[in-house]
Amino acid sequence: MSLRYLSINKKLNNFKNKIFVDGDKSLSIRWALMASQAIGVSKATNLLKSEDVINTLNCLKKLGTKVKLTKNKCEIIGNGINGFLFKKNLVLNAGNSGTLGRLILPLLIKSPYKIKIVGDKSLSKRDFSRVIEPLKKIGVNFYPLKKKKLPFYIKGSNFLRPIKYIEKKGSAQCKSCIMLASLNIPGETSIVAKKSRNHTEIMFKNLNIPMTIKKNKNFDYIKISKPSTIEGINFNIPGDISSSAFFIVLTLLSKNSKLLIKNININPSRLGVIKILNKMGAKIKISNINNYKGEKCADIFIRSSKNLKGISCPSYLNSSAIDEFLIIFLVASKAKGISYFKNLSELNQKESPRLKIASKILKKIGVKIISDDSSIKIYGNPSLELNGNYIIKNYLKDHRVFMMSTIAALTLGGKWKIFDPESIKTSFPSFLNIIKNLGGKIN
Ligand code: S3P
Repeated sequence: MSLRYLSINKKLNNFKNKIFVDGDKSLSIRWALMASQAIGVSKATNLLKSEDVINTLNCLKKLGTKVKLTKNKCEIIGNGINGFLFKKNLVLNAGNSGTLGRLILPLLIKSPYKIKIVGDKSLSKRDFSRVIEPLKKIGVNFYPLKKKKLPFYIKGSNFLRPIKYIEKKGSAQCKSCIMLASLNIPGETSIVAKKSRNHTEIMFKNLNIPMTIKKNKNFDYIKISKPSTIEGINFNIPGDISSSAFFIVLTLLSKNSKLLIKNININPSRLGVIKILNKMGAKIKISNINNYKGEKCADIFIRSSKNLKGISCPSYLNSSAIDEFLIIFLVASKAKGISYFKNLSELNQKESPRLKIASKILKKIGVKIISDDSSIKIYGNPSLELNGNYIIKNYLKDHRVFMMSTIAALTLGGKWKIFDPESIKTSFPSFLNIIKNLGGKIN
């Protein structure tokens, strides 16, 4: 039976601990998708076993790819680029995952049959025109013709052409969608992309896919030529910085606590949360830095902080912290002074309209804020302590809203009922177990 809500009536006591968080979601999904296009066996350890990743594996199985998942390992046996077994009447379910929904499409662009793509309630509200439009220019067909949201049908073509694509949102999903499409497009695909996480580029390099990247301050210029084959790729997936962020903030806002988080992917294109929190006075330390197949990994050390201050957050950090703003807003609520975050309309395009939902939750707990569709001003209060009753529900089961609310309850006090705890299964299934191990009293 699924748990309806989580009750928290007590702040977390001080803790000193070392933890591991679950494997990185972006890397887990990318590894599986790329492995399906390789010839032969690819193996991953520490693959994130969350619903988003399991849905990825299920889509690949439906497309005829062999997948073996055991407790410690995942093995995918690919049949090469476009080696899927396309059948009539296929339905692929992307569940809650924007990354899966958007990155599976480019692997279907030669399908001779229509394939139906569906997702859950949250994903069905999200914009897909951002990937449909460039894929149409490549020659891919979508039905019904003007539909911008799931469910819809995709049908491939044998007459695909390379495009020059300009990605202006700073969306790694849009960029990666066209990069993956290039595996099937003759000639050279050219992408000008506003900076965003670069895991796909790093994996392409590992796989020796012919690619050049030129960079300037804000944009990357990527050119990819269709490879003839891809070899299998073995990967030990490091921990997810987006999951770590909840524990970084839990430690910062708890008294007399220390935490070491082991082996986290600290790819600079994902490091916005640490940069922003350190600018706010957090003093988060990174040690044991190593390079794993082009991805930087390290341990992260955090101590409680009494001297957090507000920030006028520079927009160039937005993309590298895009999944962490909810929890950063919580820190801003407890920091001294006013914080201002701008150019964040993309936040309302996530699993839930996060800027709107965060504004509501912060108001509910008595934080003064001013927000509009793309920005939020937070009037921080270092002595913020709560003793009321707080109910968090109707947030489209957004995993990160659930986790942000849990951290608020454990650090600010009050009596909380937070609905839909099963939402964590999409990205961070161990979240509540780690809280319990740190001494959290949750029911
Ligand atoms: C992701 C990219 C980001 C992020 C998402 C994962 C990825 O989305 O919010 O959780 O793995 O490429 P956008 O590309 O839409 O910004």
